[in-house]
Amino acid sequence: MTTLTDTLAAIVGPAHVLTGADLDSYEQDWRGRVRGRALCVVRPASADEVARVVRACAAAGTSLVPQGGNTGLVAGSTPDDTGTQVVLSLRRMNAVRSIDPQNMTFTVEAGCILQTLQQVADEAGFLFPLSLGAEGSCTIGGNLATNAGGTQVLRYGNARELCLGLEVVTAQGELWDGLSGLRKDNTGYDLRDLFIGSEGTLGIITAATLKLHPRPAAQLTAWVALASLEDATALLGLAHQHLAAGLTGFEVMNQFALGLVDRHYPQLRVPMWREHAWCVLIELSDNESEDHARAQFERLLETAFEQGLAADAIVAESLKQAHDLWHIRESITLAQAEEGVNVKHDISIPVSRIPDFVREADAALAAGVPGVRFVNFGHLGDGNLHYNIQAPADGDARAFVAAHESTISTIVYDTVSRFGGSISAEHGVGELKREKLPHHKSPVALQLMQAIKQALDPQQLLNPGRVLARTP
Ligand code: FAD
Ligand code: MLT
Ligand code: ZN
Repeated sequence: MTTLTDTLAAIVGPAHVLTGADLDSYEQDWRGRVRGRALCVVRPASADEVARVVRACAAAGTSLVPQGGNTGLVAGSTPDDTGTQVVLSLRRMNAVRSIDPQNMTFTVEAGCILQTLQQVADEAGFLFPLSLGAEGSCTIGGNLATNAGGTQVLRYGNARELCLGLEVVTAQGELWDGLSGLRKDNTGYDLRDLFIGSEGTLGIITAATLKLHPRPAAQLTAWVALASLEDATALLGLAHQHLAAGLTGFEVMNQFALGLVDRHYPQLRVPMWREHAWCVLIELSDNESEDHARAQFERLLETAFEQGLAADAIVAESLKQAHDLWHIRESITLAQAEEGVNVKHDISIPVSRIPDFVREADAALAAGVPGVRFVNFGHLGDGNLHYNIQAPADGDARAFVAAHESTISTIVYDTVSRFGGSISAEHGVGELKREKLPHHKSPVALQLMQAIKQALDPQQLLNPGRVLARTP
Protein backbone atom coordinates (compact mmCIF):
# COMPACT_ATOMS: atom_id res chain seq x y z
CA MET A 1 0.00 0.00 0.00
CA THR A 2 1.33 3.49 -0.86
CA THR A 3 1.52 5.72 2.22
CA LEU A 4 1.23 9.52 2.26
CA THR A 5 4.95 9.70 3.02
CA ASP A 6 5.68 7.66 -0.13
CA THR A 7 3.49 9.98 -2.21
CA LEU A 8 5.23 13.06 -0.78
CA ALA A 9 8.64 11.50 -1.46
CA ALA A 10 7.60 10.97 -5.09
CA ILE A 11 6.77 14.70 -5.34
CA VAL A 12 9.80 16.30 -3.64
CA GLY A 13 12.35 13.47 -3.73
CA PRO A 14 13.02 11.03 -0.85
CA ALA A 15 15.87 13.18 0.55
CA HIS A 16 13.37 15.97 1.25
CA VAL A 17 10.89 14.01 3.33
CA LEU A 18 12.30 13.84 6.86
CA THR A 19 11.23 11.37 9.52
CA GLY A 20 12.54 9.99 12.86
CA ALA A 21 15.38 11.85 14.57
CA ASP A 22 15.55 14.42 11.73
CA LEU A 23 12.23 15.89 12.92
CA ASP A 24 13.58 17.18 16.23
CA SER A 25 14.25 20.86 15.46
CA TYR A 26 11.01 21.18 13.46
CA GLU A 27 8.86 19.87 16.31
CA GLN A 28 9.90 22.33 19.03
CA ASP A 29 9.15 26.07 19.06
CA TRP A 30 11.91 28.69 19.49
CA ARG A 31 10.95 29.48 23.10
CA GLY A 32 10.81 25.84 24.15
CA ARG A 33 7.18 26.32 25.20
CA VAL A 34 5.66 23.51 23.09
CA ARG A 35 6.87 20.29 21.52
CA GLY A 36 4.70 18.38 19.04
CA ARG A 37 5.10 15.25 16.94
CA ALA A 38 4.93 15.28 13.16
CA LEU A 39 4.20 12.50 10.69
CA CYS A 40 7.03 13.93 8.60
CA VAL A 41 8.61 17.16 7.37
CA VAL A 42 8.31 17.81 3.64
CA ARG A 43 10.66 20.26 1.92
CA PRO A 44 9.38 21.28 -1.54
CA ALA A 45 11.60 23.25 -3.93
CA SER A 46 8.92 25.02 -6.01
CA ALA A 47 5.39 26.41 -5.84
CA ASP A 48 4.27 23.58 -8.10
CA GLU A 49 5.65 21.03 -5.62
CA VAL A 50 3.89 22.87 -2.76
CA ALA A 51 0.60 22.64 -4.67
CA ARG A 52 1.07 18.92 -5.29
CA VAL A 53 1.96 18.32 -1.62
CA VAL A 54 -1.21 20.14 -0.52
CA ARG A 55 -3.34 18.11 -2.96
CA ALA A 56 -1.82 14.85 -1.69
CA CYS A 57 -2.47 15.85 1.94
CA ALA A 58 -6.02 16.96 1.10
CA ALA A 59 -6.70 13.59 -0.56
CA ALA A 60 -5.39 11.82 2.56
CA GLY A 61 -7.31 14.16 4.92
CA THR A 62 -4.01 15.09 6.59
CA SER A 63 -3.43 18.61 7.88
CA LEU A 64 -0.33 20.72 7.24
CA VAL A 65 1.67 23.14 9.35
CA PRO A 66 3.62 25.65 7.22
CA GLN A 67 7.03 26.47 8.70
CA GLY A 68 9.68 29.05 7.75
CA GLY A 69 12.52 29.82 10.16
CA ASN A 70 10.55 28.56 13.20
CA THR A 71 11.38 31.75 15.12
CA GLY A 72 7.74 32.63 15.87
CA LEU A 73 7.00 33.50 19.51
CA VAL A 74 3.39 32.22 19.77
CA ALA A 75 3.86 28.51 18.98
CA GLY A 76 2.22 28.62 15.54
CA SER A 77 4.73 26.79 13.37
CA THR A 78 5.13 23.41 15.10
CA PRO A 79 2.85 20.36 14.81
CA ASP A 80 0.34 19.28 17.45
CA ASP A 81 1.06 16.17 19.51
CA THR A 82 -0.93 13.65 17.42
CA GLY A 83 1.98 12.58 15.21
CA THR A 84 -0.36 12.87 12.19
CA GLN A 85 0.42 16.36 10.81
CA VAL A 86 2.82 17.15 7.99
CA VAL A 87 5.21 20.05 8.57
CA LEU A 88 5.65 21.91 5.27
CA SER A 89 9.04 23.62 5.42
CA LEU A 90 9.48 26.41 2.87
CA ARG A 91 13.19 26.85 3.50
CA ARG A 92 14.35 25.29 0.21
CA MET A 93 12.37 27.89 -1.72
CA ASN A 94 14.99 30.60 -1.35
CA ALA A 95 15.47 32.14 -4.79
CA VAL A 96 15.35 35.84 -5.57
CA ARG A 97 13.32 35.60 -8.77
CA SER A 98 13.78 39.15 -10.08
CA ILE A 99 14.63 42.76 -9.21
CA ASP A 100 12.89 45.68 -10.93
CA PRO A 101 14.95 48.79 -10.05
CA GLN A 102 12.63 51.25 -11.82
CA ASN A 103 9.53 49.90 -10.12
CA MET A 104 11.59 49.65 -6.91
CA THR A 105 10.50 46.07 -6.19
CA PHE A 106 11.94 42.60 -5.96
CA THR A 107 10.17 39.26 -6.21
CA VAL A 108 11.44 36.61 -3.84
CA GLU A 109 10.52 33.13 -2.70
CA ALA A 110 8.99 32.49 0.72
CA GLY A 111 11.97 30.66 2.20
CA CYS A 112 14.45 33.53 1.70
CA ILE A 113 16.08 34.52 5.00
CA LEU A 114 15.24 38.14 5.88
CA GLN A 115 18.89 39.14 6.38
CA THR A 116 19.77 37.74 2.94
CA LEU A 117 17.06 39.93 1.41
CA GLN A 118 18.41 43.00 3.21
CA GLN A 119 21.83 42.21 1.68
CA VAL A 120 20.40 41.59 -1.81
CA ALA A 121 18.59 44.94 -1.65
CA ASP A 122 21.74 46.70 -0.44
CA GLU A 123 23.86 45.23 -3.25
CA ALA A 124 21.27 46.51 -5.74
CA GLY A 125 21.57 50.02 -4.21
CA PHE A 126 18.33 49.93 -2.21
CA LEU A 127 17.06 49.43 1.32
CA PHE A 128 14.69 46.65 2.38
CA PRO A 129 13.78 48.03 5.79
CA LEU A 130 12.10 45.14 7.61
CA SER A 131 14.37 44.56 10.59
CA LEU A 132 14.02 42.33 13.67
CA GLY A 133 16.16 40.40 16.12
CA ALA A 134 15.50 37.07 14.38
CA GLU A 135 16.45 38.39 10.92
CA GLY A 136 19.37 35.92 10.59
CA SER A 137 16.99 32.96 10.64
CA CYS A 138 13.38 34.04 10.00
CA THR A 139 12.02 33.81 6.44
CA ILE A 140 10.09 36.37 4.44
CA GLY A 141 7.20 33.89 4.15
CA GLY A 142 7.02 33.72 7.95
CA ASN A 143 7.36 37.51 8.19
CA LEU A 144 4.38 37.99 5.88
CA ALA A 145 2.35 35.19 7.47
CA THR A 146 2.76 36.95 10.85
CA ASN A 147 2.76 40.51 9.48
CA ALA A 148 6.02 41.01 11.39
CA GLY A 149 6.91 44.42 12.81
CA GLY A 150 10.37 45.06 14.24
CA THR A 151 12.38 48.19 14.81
CA GLN A 152 11.72 50.36 11.73
CA VAL A 153 7.91 50.22 11.56
CA LEU A 154 7.70 53.85 12.64
CA ARG A 155 9.03 54.97 9.28
CA TYR A 156 8.47 52.09 6.85
CA GLY A 157 5.47 50.20 8.25
CA ASN A 158 5.25 46.51 9.08
CA ALA A 159 5.55 43.58 6.66
CA ARG A 160 2.11 44.30 5.19
CA GLU A 161 3.13 47.81 4.09
CA LEU A 162 6.22 46.43 2.37
CA CYS A 163 4.36 43.88 0.26
CA LEU A 164 2.77 44.60 -3.12
CA GLY A 165 1.88 41.09 -4.24
CA LEU A 166 1.81 37.43 -3.23
CA GLU A 167 1.89 33.99 -4.76
CA VAL A 168 -0.15 31.57 -2.65
CA VAL A 169 -1.08 27.89 -2.74
CA THR A 170 -4.66 27.52 -1.55
CA ALA A 171 -6.04 24.78 0.70
CA GLN A 172 -7.36 23.12 -2.47
CA GLY A 173 -3.83 22.96 -3.89
CA GLU A 174 -4.41 25.67 -6.51
CA LEU A 175 -1.80 28.31 -7.27
CA TRP A 176 -2.90 31.98 -7.05
CA ASP A 177 -0.45 34.22 -8.88
CA GLY A 178 -0.94 37.64 -7.29
CA LEU A 179 2.65 38.77 -7.83
CA SER A 180 1.79 42.15 -9.26
CA GLY A 181 4.17 44.98 -8.58
CA LEU A 182 1.19 47.35 -8.66
CA ARG A 183 0.85 50.16 -6.17
CA LYS A 184 -2.77 50.69 -7.12
CA ASP A 185 -5.30 47.92 -7.81
CA ASN A 186 -8.91 48.22 -6.70
CA THR A 187 -10.35 45.24 -8.58
CA GLY A 188 -12.32 43.82 -5.67
CA TYR A 189 -11.44 42.25 -2.32
CA ASP A 190 -7.80 42.52 -1.34
CA LEU A 191 -6.70 38.88 -1.27
CA ARG A 192 -3.10 39.83 -0.54
CA ASP A 193 -4.10 41.53 2.69
CA LEU A 194 -6.21 38.53 3.66
CA PHE A 195 -3.25 36.16 3.49
CA ILE A 196 -0.82 38.55 5.19
CA GLY A 197 -1.02 37.96 8.94
CA SER A 198 -3.13 34.79 8.56
CA GLU A 199 -0.40 32.66 10.21
CA GLY A 200 -0.58 29.80 7.71
CA THR A 201 -4.29 29.18 8.32
CA LEU A 202 -5.68 30.37 4.97
CA GLY A 203 -3.01 29.60 2.37
CA ILE A 204 0.67 28.89 1.87
CA ILE A 205 2.72 31.86 0.74
CA THR A 206 5.27 30.71 -1.84
CA ALA A 207 6.58 34.07 -3.12
CA ALA A 208 6.13 37.82 -2.70
CA THR A 209 6.76 41.06 -4.56
CA LEU A 210 8.20 43.53 -2.08
CA LYS A 211 8.84 47.28 -2.04
CA LEU A 212 12.39 48.59 -2.10
CA HIS A 213 13.26 51.98 -0.61
CA PRO A 214 16.09 54.41 -1.39
CA ARG A 215 19.08 53.96 0.93
CA PRO A 216 19.30 56.99 3.25
CA ALA A 217 22.42 59.15 2.95
CA ALA A 218 23.07 58.74 6.69
CA GLN A 219 21.74 56.79 9.63
CA LEU A 220 22.44 57.82 13.21
CA THR A 221 21.67 56.20 16.52
CA ALA A 222 21.28 57.82 19.95
CA TRP A 223 21.05 56.10 23.35
CA VAL A 224 19.27 58.26 25.91
CA ALA A 225 18.77 57.60 29.64
CA LEU A 226 15.59 58.83 31.35
CA ALA A 227 13.95 58.84 34.74
CA SER A 228 10.47 57.71 33.74
CA LEU A 229 8.23 56.30 31.03
CA GLU A 230 6.39 59.65 30.97
CA ASP A 231 9.71 61.26 29.97
CA ALA A 232 10.16 58.61 27.27
CA THR A 233 6.75 59.30 25.71
CA ALA A 234 7.36 63.06 25.92
CA LEU A 235 10.75 62.56 24.23
CA LEU A 236 9.02 60.55 21.49
CA GLY A 237 6.73 63.53 20.82
CA LEU A 238 9.76 65.83 20.68
CA ALA A 239 11.56 63.42 18.32
CA HIS A 240 8.54 63.46 15.96
CA GLN A 241 8.63 67.26 15.90
CA HIS A 242 12.39 67.57 15.38
CA LEU A 243 13.06 64.65 13.05
CA ALA A 244 9.71 64.40 11.20
CA ALA A 245 9.86 61.61 8.60
CA GLY A 246 13.52 61.00 9.47
CA LEU A 247 12.50 59.35 12.75
CA THR A 248 13.00 55.67 11.92
CA GLY A 249 12.97 53.84 15.24
CA PHE A 250 12.19 54.63 18.88
CA GLU A 251 12.75 51.73 21.27
CA VAL A 252 12.36 51.73 25.02
CA MET A 253 14.05 49.41 27.57
CA ASN A 254 13.54 49.25 31.33
CA GLN A 255 16.35 48.87 33.84
CA PHE A 256 15.55 45.24 34.62
CA ALA A 257 15.60 44.25 30.90
CA LEU A 258 19.01 45.87 30.46
CA GLY A 259 20.22 44.33 33.71
CA LEU A 260 19.41 40.89 32.27
CA VAL A 261 21.51 41.65 29.18
CA ASP A 262 24.33 42.81 31.45
CA ARG A 263 24.10 39.64 33.56
CA HIS A 264 24.04 37.18 30.65
CA TYR A 265 26.18 39.08 28.11
CA PRO A 266 28.57 41.31 30.16
CA GLN A 267 30.83 41.65 27.10
CA LEU A 268 28.16 43.88 25.48
CA ARG A 269 28.87 46.64 28.04
CA VAL A 270 25.37 48.04 28.43
CA PRO A 271 25.65 51.81 29.00
CA MET A 272 23.88 53.88 31.67
CA TRP A 273 21.56 51.16 32.90
CA ARG A 274 22.67 51.07 36.54
CA GLU A 275 21.83 54.72 37.24
CA HIS A 276 18.63 55.15 35.23
CA ALA A 277 15.17 53.56 35.24
CA TRP A 278 14.72 53.66 31.45
CA CYS A 279 16.81 53.99 28.30
CA VAL A 280 15.66 54.62 24.73
CA LEU A 281 17.30 54.05 21.36
CA ILE A 282 16.47 56.57 18.67
CA GLU A 283 17.27 55.96 15.01
CA LEU A 284 17.38 58.78 12.48
CA SER A 285 17.62 58.33 8.71
CA ASP A 286 18.68 61.39 6.77
CA ASN A 287 18.53 61.97 3.05
CA GLU A 288 21.08 64.83 3.05
CA SER A 289 24.27 63.98 4.94
CA GLU A 290 25.72 62.73 8.20
CA ASP A 291 26.52 66.31 9.26
CA HIS A 292 22.91 67.31 8.70
CA ALA A 293 21.74 64.29 10.70
CA ARG A 294 24.13 65.08 13.60
CA ALA A 295 22.93 68.69 13.70
CA GLN A 296 19.31 67.50 13.91
CA PHE A 297 20.15 65.06 16.70
CA GLU A 298 22.05 67.76 18.61
CA ARG A 299 19.06 70.12 18.50
CA LEU A 300 16.72 67.35 19.63
CA LEU A 301 18.93 66.34 22.54
CA GLU A 302 19.60 69.95 23.59
CA THR A 303 15.86 70.55 23.84
CA ALA A 304 15.38 67.25 25.67
CA PHE A 305 18.00 68.25 28.29
CA GLU A 306 16.53 71.77 28.59
CA GLN A 307 13.08 70.33 29.23
CA GLY A 308 14.48 67.91 31.79
CA LEU A 309 13.42 64.85 29.77
CA ALA A 310 16.85 63.36 29.15
CA ALA A 311 19.22 62.46 31.99
CA ASP A 312 22.19 61.35 29.89
CA ALA A 313 22.80 60.58 26.20
CA ILE A 314 25.30 59.33 23.64
CA VAL A 315 25.14 59.62 19.87
CA ALA A 316 26.99 56.76 18.15
CA GLU A 317 30.23 57.98 16.58
CA SER A 318 30.52 55.17 14.05
CA LEU A 319 28.45 52.49 12.36
CA LYS A 320 30.15 49.94 14.61
CA GLN A 321 29.08 51.78 17.75
CA ALA A 322 25.53 52.09 16.41
CA HIS A 323 25.51 48.38 15.62
CA ASP A 324 26.77 47.57 19.15
CA LEU A 325 23.97 49.63 20.73
CA TRP A 326 21.33 47.92 18.59
CA HIS A 327 22.88 44.56 19.46
CA ILE A 328 22.21 45.26 23.14
CA ARG A 329 18.57 46.00 22.36
CA GLU A 330 18.20 42.86 20.21
CA SER A 331 19.76 40.72 22.96
CA ILE A 332 16.98 41.30 25.49
CA THR A 333 14.88 38.38 24.17
CA LEU A 334 17.91 36.08 24.31
CA ALA A 335 18.87 37.27 27.82
CA GLN A 336 15.31 36.58 28.94
CA ALA A 337 15.54 33.04 27.55
CA GLU A 338 18.87 32.55 29.40
CA GLU A 339 17.26 33.74 32.63
CA GLY A 340 14.52 31.12 32.32
CA VAL A 341 11.03 30.45 30.99
CA ASN A 342 8.97 33.64 30.97
CA VAL A 343 5.54 34.97 30.10
CA LYS A 344 5.39 37.24 27.05
CA HIS A 345 2.81 39.91 26.30
CA ASP A 346 3.21 41.65 22.97
CA ILE A 347 0.70 44.43 23.41
CA SER A 348 -0.22 47.75 21.82
CA ILE A 349 -1.85 50.74 23.49
CA PRO A 350 -2.24 54.32 22.25
CA VAL A 351 1.17 55.89 23.01
CA SER A 352 -0.40 58.60 25.16
CA ARG A 353 -1.80 55.97 27.56
CA ILE A 354 1.27 53.78 27.93
CA PRO A 355 2.68 55.23 31.19
CA ASP A 356 -0.70 54.87 32.93
CA PHE A 357 -1.11 51.35 31.56
CA VAL A 358 2.27 50.27 32.89
CA ARG A 359 1.61 51.81 36.30
CA GLU A 360 -1.74 50.01 36.61
CA ALA A 361 -0.57 46.67 35.23
CA ASP A 362 2.57 46.70 37.43
CA ALA A 363 0.49 47.40 40.55
CA ALA A 364 -2.15 44.76 39.73
CA LEU A 365 0.51 42.11 39.08
CA ALA A 366 2.59 42.96 42.14
CA ALA A 367 -0.56 42.54 44.24
CA GLY A 368 -1.90 39.45 42.42
CA VAL A 369 1.28 37.44 41.85
CA PRO A 370 3.96 38.58 44.32
CA GLY A 371 7.60 38.25 43.31
CA VAL A 372 7.20 38.66 39.53
CA ARG A 373 9.95 40.58 37.75
CA PHE A 374 9.06 43.06 35.00
CA VAL A 375 10.94 42.93 31.69
CA ASN A 376 9.49 45.86 29.85
CA PHE A 377 10.80 46.96 26.47
CA GLY A 378 9.78 47.41 22.88
CA HIS A 379 8.72 49.60 20.05
CA LEU A 380 7.43 52.64 21.96
CA GLY A 381 7.23 54.61 18.70
CA ASP A 382 4.51 52.17 17.56
CA GLY A 383 2.78 52.03 20.95
CA ASN A 384 3.97 48.40 21.15
CA LEU A 385 5.42 47.10 24.42
CA HIS A 386 6.86 43.69 25.16
CA TYR A 387 5.45 43.65 28.66
CA ASN A 388 7.10 40.39 29.71
CA ILE A 389 7.14 38.73 33.09
CA GLN A 390 10.06 36.79 34.50
CA ALA A 391 9.49 34.34 37.38
CA PRO A 392 10.88 35.26 40.83
CA ALA A 393 14.68 34.95 41.03
CA ASP A 394 14.70 31.96 43.36
CA GLY A 395 12.78 28.78 42.57
CA ASP A 396 11.76 26.75 39.54
CA ALA A 397 10.77 29.17 36.74
CA ARG A 398 9.03 26.48 34.67
CA ALA A 399 6.86 25.41 37.62
CA PHE A 400 6.10 29.05 38.45
CA VAL A 401 5.03 29.81 34.88
CA ALA A 402 2.90 26.66 34.71
CA ALA A 403 1.13 27.66 37.93
CA HIS A 404 0.71 31.40 37.34
CA GLU A 405 0.77 32.14 33.59
CA SER A 406 -2.98 32.19 33.20
CA THR A 407 -3.52 34.57 36.14
CA ILE A 408 -0.66 36.82 34.99
CA SER A 409 -1.93 37.06 31.42
CA THR A 410 -5.53 37.61 32.50
CA ILE A 411 -4.43 40.58 34.64
CA VAL A 412 -2.34 42.02 31.81
CA TYR A 413 -4.88 41.48 29.01
CA ASP A 414 -7.79 42.80 31.07
CA THR A 415 -5.76 45.95 31.70
CA VAL A 416 -4.88 46.13 27.98
CA SER A 417 -8.57 45.93 27.06
CA ARG A 418 -9.48 48.66 29.55
CA PHE A 419 -6.89 50.88 27.87
CA GLY A 420 -8.29 50.16 24.38
CA GLY A 421 -5.28 48.08 23.31
CA SER A 422 -4.53 44.86 21.43
CA ILE A 423 -3.26 41.59 22.98
CA SER A 424 -1.06 40.94 19.95
CA ALA A 425 0.71 43.85 18.31
CA GLU A 426 3.15 41.96 16.08
CA HIS A 427 3.75 38.30 17.03
CA GLY A 428 0.31 36.96 16.11
CA VAL A 429 -2.00 34.56 17.95
CA GLY A 430 -0.72 31.08 17.10
CA GLU A 431 -1.44 28.48 19.75
CA LEU A 432 -0.44 30.44 22.82
CA LYS A 433 -3.00 33.25 22.56
CA ARG A 434 -5.83 31.40 20.82
CA GLU A 435 -7.89 30.88 23.95
CA LYS A 436 -7.45 34.48 25.07
CA LEU A 437 -8.62 35.92 21.74
CA PRO A 438 -12.40 35.45 22.23
CA HIS A 439 -12.21 37.51 25.44
CA HIS A 440 -10.60 40.46 23.69
CA LYS A 441 -12.09 40.54 20.18
CA SER A 442 -15.67 41.34 19.30
CA PRO A 443 -18.02 38.41 18.56
CA VAL A 444 -18.76 39.94 15.15
CA ALA A 445 -15.07 40.06 14.26
CA LEU A 446 -14.61 36.45 15.38
CA GLN A 447 -17.64 35.31 13.34
CA LEU A 448 -16.26 37.00 10.23
CA MET A 449 -12.88 35.35 10.80
CA GLN A 450 -14.54 31.90 11.18
CA ALA A 451 -16.53 32.52 7.98
CA ILE A 452 -13.35 33.35 6.06
CA LYS A 453 -11.59 30.24 7.39
CA GLN A 454 -14.60 28.08 6.46
CA ALA A 455 -14.76 29.56 2.94
CA LEU A 456 -11.06 29.18 2.18
CA ASP A 457 -10.24 25.99 4.09
CA PRO A 458 -13.45 24.01 4.73
CA GLN A 459 -11.51 20.80 5.40
CA GLN A 460 -9.39 22.54 8.10
CA LEU A 461 -6.19 21.37 6.46
CA LEU A 462 -4.02 24.45 6.99
CA ASN A 463 -2.60 24.95 10.49
CA PRO A 464 -5.87 23.95 12.21
CA GLY A 465 -6.34 25.14 15.77
CA ARG A 466 -4.05 28.14 15.31
CA VAL A 467 -5.53 31.65 15.64
CA LEU A 468 -9.05 30.14 15.81
CA ALA A 469 -10.20 26.98 17.60
CA ARG A 470 -10.95 24.01 15.36
CA THR A 471 -14.63 23.72 14.53
CA PRO A 472 -16.29 20.33 15.20
P1 FAD B 1 7.77 30.65 11.56
O1 FAD B 1 8.08 30.81 12.99
O2 FAD B 1 8.30 29.44 10.89
O3 FAD B 1 6.19 30.69 11.36
C1 FAD B 1 5.40 31.71 11.94
C2 FAD B 1 3.94 31.54 11.49
O4 FAD B 1 3.83 31.75 10.09
C3 FAD B 1 3.38 30.12 11.72
O5 FAD B 1 2.01 30.24 11.99
C4 FAD B 1 3.59 29.42 10.38
O6 FAD B 1 2.66 28.38 10.17
C5 FAD B 1 3.37 30.57 9.40
N1 FAD B 1 4.17 30.49 8.17
C6 FAD B 1 5.53 30.44 8.06
N2 FAD B 1 5.88 30.46 6.76
C7 FAD B 1 4.74 30.50 6.04
C8 FAD B 1 4.43 30.54 4.65
N3 FAD B 1 5.39 30.56 3.73
N4 FAD B 1 3.12 30.58 4.28
C9 FAD B 1 2.12 30.58 5.21
N5 FAD B 1 2.36 30.53 6.53
C10 FAD B 1 3.64 30.52 6.94
N6 FAD B 1 8.52 39.43 15.47
C11 FAD B 1 8.15 40.71 15.20
O7 FAD B 1 7.11 40.92 14.59
N7 FAD B 1 8.95 41.75 15.59
C12 FAD B 1 10.11 41.58 16.24
O8 FAD B 1 10.77 42.55 16.59
C13 FAD B 1 10.52 40.25 16.52
N8 FAD B 1 11.69 40.03 17.15
C14 FAD B 1 12.07 38.74 17.41
C15 FAD B 1 13.29 38.52 18.03
C16 FAD B 1 13.71 37.23 18.31
C17 FAD B 1 15.04 37.00 18.98
C18 FAD B 1 12.88 36.13 17.95
C19 FAD B 1 13.30 34.72 18.22
C20 FAD B 1 11.68 36.35 17.32
C21 FAD B 1 11.25 37.65 17.04
N9 FAD B 1 10.04 37.91 16.40
C22 FAD B 1 9.66 39.19 16.12
C23 FAD B 1 9.13 36.80 16.05
C24 FAD B 1 9.43 36.09 14.69
O9 FAD B 1 10.76 36.23 14.31
C25 FAD B 1 8.52 36.59 13.61
O10 FAD B 1 7.20 36.21 13.91
C26 FAD B 1 8.87 36.10 12.19
O11 FAD B 1 8.09 36.83 11.28
C27 FAD B 1 8.62 34.61 11.99
O12 FAD B 1 9.23 34.17 10.79
P2 FAD B 1 9.62 32.62 10.57
O13 FAD B 1 10.09 32.44 9.19
O14 FAD B 1 10.53 32.16 11.64
O15 FAD B 1 8.18 31.95 10.74
C1 MLT C 1 11.57 42.10 20.04
O1 MLT C 1 11.10 43.17 19.67
O2 MLT C 1 12.76 41.99 20.39
C2 MLT C 1 10.69 40.88 20.12
O3 MLT C 1 9.55 41.08 19.32
C3 MLT C 1 10.25 40.82 21.55
C4 MLT C 1 10.09 39.66 22.41
O4 MLT C 1 10.96 38.79 22.50
O5 MLT C 1 9.07 39.64 23.15
ZN1 ZN D 1 9.14 43.27 18.97
